[in-house]
Order: sequence, then C-alpha cells, then structure tokens
Amino acid sequence: MKNLFNEYVKSIETYIMFQIKQQVAELEPELKSKDRSPIALAMGAPVAAPPDIVTKKFKEYLEIPQIHTYSSPKGENYFLQAAAQRMKNRFGVNLDPKTEICSLIGSKEGLANFIRALINPAFNDEDKDIILVPDPGYASYKEMVKTSGGRSYGIPLSKDNNYMPDMNTVWEQMKKEGFDTKKVKAMIINYPSNPLGATCTKDYLKHVTEFCNEKQIWLLSDAAYCDIYFDEKEKPHSILEVEGAKDVAVEFYSFSKPYSMTGFRLGWICGNAYAVGMLAKLKSTIDTGIFKAIQKTGAYILNSTEGDEYILQANKDFKRKQMIVINGLRNLGWKIKDEDIPRATFYIWQPIPPRYASSKAFTDDLLKTSGIVVVPGIGFGSNGEGYFRLSAVATDEQLKEVINRMEKDGFYFEK
Ligand SMILES: Cc1ncc(COP(=O)(O)O)c(C=O)c1O
Repeated sequence: MKNLFNEYVKSIETYIMFQIKQQVAELEPELKSKDRSPIALAMGAPVAAPPDIVTKKFKEYLEIPQIHTYSSPKGENYFLQAAAQRMKNRFGVNLDPKTEICSLIGSKEGLANFIRALINPAFNDEDKDIILVPDPGYASYKEMVKTSGGRSYGIPLSKDNNYMPDMNTVWEQMKKEGFDTKKVKAMIINYPSNPLGATCTKDYLKHVTEFCNEKQIWLLSDAAYCDIYFDEKEKPHSILEVEGAKDVAVEFYSFSKPYSMTGFRLGWICGNAYAVGMLAKLKSTIDTGIFKAIQKTGAYILNSTEGDEYILQANKDFKRKQMIVINGLRNLGWKIKDEDIPRATFYIWQPIPPRYASSKAFTDDLLKTSGIVVVPGIGFGSNGEGYFRLSAVATDEQLKEVINRMEKDGFYFEK
C-alpha cells in the first residue's frame, strides 16, 4: 500500500516518552543482567495510587442504572458544576457551568482539538498559521500544531528572563526573524511549567493577558500542574483571576497530576464562552463525552476534603522526593542554589555535565550504563539543549538508588 497519510501526520515523530519506553524495553535484559534494572524517571506521571475514595466511588457509580449510556460532548451538569465550584474554591473565579466550561478526555485532548480548531491548514511555511509555544515546553504542543497544519514559534524561557519573557520583545524578535505576525493565532503558557518546574507571578499573567488582548490572539493557559506546589504562600494562580482574561483566555485543567488519575482521562477547559462553545461544537462531531461514572468520580473528588487532603499529602511527598534528588545531585557536583529549586511540580531540570556533547548523549549514557531513565532537554525544544529533565515520582528508595548508581558509575557533574 502506498503511504496515503497526510503530510502533517507523516512528518511527526512518535511522542518522545513512548520512544524512550521502547528504548528502555530493548535494553532491559542487558541492564538487568548487570544489576541495573531500569528506574523510570522520564514520564511526568505520579506513580502513587489515586485517593482510595476515588476507587470506592467509581465502583459504587458503576451500579447506577443507565450509567453506561452516552454522556454529552460538553459533559454532565454535575461535572460542569463541580468544576465551576472548584474554580471558585481554589481561585475565587466565577464561571457559568453552562457556557464557560466543557469536559475534556484529559487536557491533552482538549489542547490538541483547540489548536486544531484555530489553525487553517497550509502546506508552505509562510502560509502557515502560527502558535507561540513555550520553549522549553511540553513536547506535545509543537506536534499538535504541526499535525494541524500550522507552525510553532518558541517563546524562549530561560533563567535570564526568569522564565517570564517580555512578550513584546518576543514579538519584535519574531518580526526580525521574518515571521509574519499576522499569522499568529494564539500563545500557550504553562505555569507551573513542564519541564522547568518554574512558576510565574500574577503580574506576569496580567502582562500576557494584556499582550494577547492588544494583539487579538487567544491565550491558552495549561494549568495541569496548578495543584502541585510546596508553599501555601506561593500557590499558583489561574489566568482567570486576571481582570479581562475571559475576553482572550481559556484554561486547561487535568485530574491526572493532582489526583494520580492519569488513566481515567479527565479534565476540563474553562474561560471565554465563545471559545469553549467552539471547542464543544468541534468535539460533538469527534467524541461523545466521557463515561459518566468517571465524570461522577471526578465531580466527587474535586471539592471533597479527601481530595484536598490527598493533594496536601502528595505535595509533601513530592517535596521530600525532590530534596532527595537535589541533595544527591549536589553531592555529585551539581551547583544548585536554594532559590533555583523548583517551587512547584515534580520535575527537576538541570544542566548536563559539560563533558557531554548533547543532552541526548548524556541521557543515553545514563540509561545504558546505569539504567536511569530521564529525558534529554532537546525533547522539549531547542532551548532545552544542554539540560535534562528528571521526574521525581519514583519511591524514595528508588531515588536514593539513582543517586547511588550515579556515584558508583561516575556520573559526577565534573570529573
Ligand atoms: C504540561 C502538560 N499539559 C498537559 C498534559 C496532559 O495531561 P492529561 O492529558 O493527562 O490531562 C501533560 C502531561 O504530561 C503536561 O505535562
């Protein structure tokens, strides 16, 4: 059969995490034979079980008559109301569940379909619509844009700009590089950030809101990690707390990270009613909503004491794990200042030892020699070169074993 698939789909690579999984599976027998069984620190997914009440309620809801039937593409009222209540409780944001919220089959699905809904597919680069994406940033953004027939432009995030670049400077830089700014349809922000663990200030959220308003482009805020933080005084904000944000912004939420519910595939989008409505319309032709027992479970956990207590405990555990790795890396020669320790997420983003020519060379060596699975920074964008990302989600023992192996196998920052 000839290859009849479209050019966009032909051009993408399998998602980097699945490539790494495959590489690990191939190396596993050899690693086991030298007492270096793989320790997985690549996937950005908590490994703890979800709250007990989630499993209990889910089983209970399976018994409800007619629970098995189709849901609606926008989501059941009880789910939308629970999401609205959560936004009120957590951020003080008021939303109309009927028009300003839509359920998602995980936030990845929502982001992909929203991006698809914005882009007019084109073949030549100069004709392509542009989406501004964080660089380094979640690897899927760029691929979502590409498969939709658009192109992405990286918003450079670095320590120098405190991971909060001035968007007018980025805009001018784009023009200098010959990009047609009239083609820009949207910008994506992701605070707290995957892979950086960086957070942003409310003032910065105000800045990006004003910028998108002035340029008349959509602002997509990916809030997947908003509940994974370590200091009550530094709780991440919602973009919708900013005055006027509803005019230009939508925000994406996920149950995956705060409640370890990755496999349930559940999230929501909220914000600008027109944008939420457009996505719901598109989704009505693509999917028919989420299994109602899952929506009921999500609705339960969102505003429950069990849910809040779970998040509190999970964040204590993530902090402890983070410090096992940070202190371990410090002992191996990484110079990590206290102020550079991530205030949120379970990610650790650090430079590769200078003797390696690329982030991939380092992560390949770490895997092949020591069975430690991390992600090369280049996987998150060109600004990620020279770094690696480690998800501190394994057990404490495994994380200590990672540091032991690195020491035994000579993975010092500088030899
Ligand atoms: C920044 C970011 N956004 C979205 C997602 C997707 O999460 P989900 O589709 O499970 O809600 C992830 C998953 O790793 C992520 O890191």
